[in-house]
Amino acid sequence: MKTNVHFSYTNTDELSYTGKTTVVIDVLRASTTIIHALQNGARELIPVASVEFAVKVSGGMFGGQTLLGGERNTKKPEGFALGNSPLEYTPEVVGGRTIILFTTNGSKAIVKAKFSENLFIAAFTNLKAVVNHLVKLDMDFEILCSGRSNNFSMEDVVCAGKLISEIQKTNADIELTDSAKASVSLSKSSGKSILTMMEHTEHGKILMENNFIEDLKFCSRINTSATIPFLTSGVLKVLQ
Ligand code: MLT
Repeated sequence: MKTNVHFSYTNTDELSYTGKTTVVIDVLRASTTIIHALQNGARELIPVASVEFAVKVSGGMFGGQTLLGGERNTKKPEGFALGNSPLEYTPEVVGGRTIILFTTNGSKAIVKAKFSENLFIAAFTNLKAVVNHLVKLDMDFEILCSGRSNNFSMEDVVCAGKLISEIQKTNADIELTDSAKASVSLSKSSGKSILTMMEHTEHGKILMENNFIEDLKFCSRINTSATIPFLTSGVLKVLQ
């Protein structure tokens, strides 16, 4: 078993994911929101790479029965029903619904890796569930951190490092690329209090400035969910 970590989705070509097993991480907040929405009964989420496409898909393909969710620069885009706060995705709001999701980085990272044979979504909240599944699969995998503005995001890389460290507990022979080793080191040095770490990240600070401290708290919780979102034909559903 071998793993590699990408620090941003912008450095790779979409065809490079063909046939691979990929874990997409956008802790703040897209992956945490996707996990929570599916856990709370959303039927499915369709990640898209532009607001324009989100509006087009929601208007045309499903007879207007979908909910538009996500953010542009942390804010809910005009005309969207939901922002990108996991706390908005309650059972009452999302139960049985199809959600078209656009976010600045997370949904684009998922779309980038859409040719993967297996594509899972991970965050701190479902870390153990994803680890157990990867151990069971026993295949090489890529971790795609969505990052921010074409750049490294500390919280995504710490989450990637923790995921790999957990796998090492049952598979000490897992082969790591340099980026995977760096992620493990960072998670050991900075991952003791996830909330404190996130409060000091660039994205964490922006979210706090925009009054999303409760989202930081929510996204810092570890292993609160057993839900693994899985991409199939461009749609995210719960892995059964
Ligand atoms: C993203 O995709 O960049 C994030 O999820 C942004 C956010 O929620 O603030």
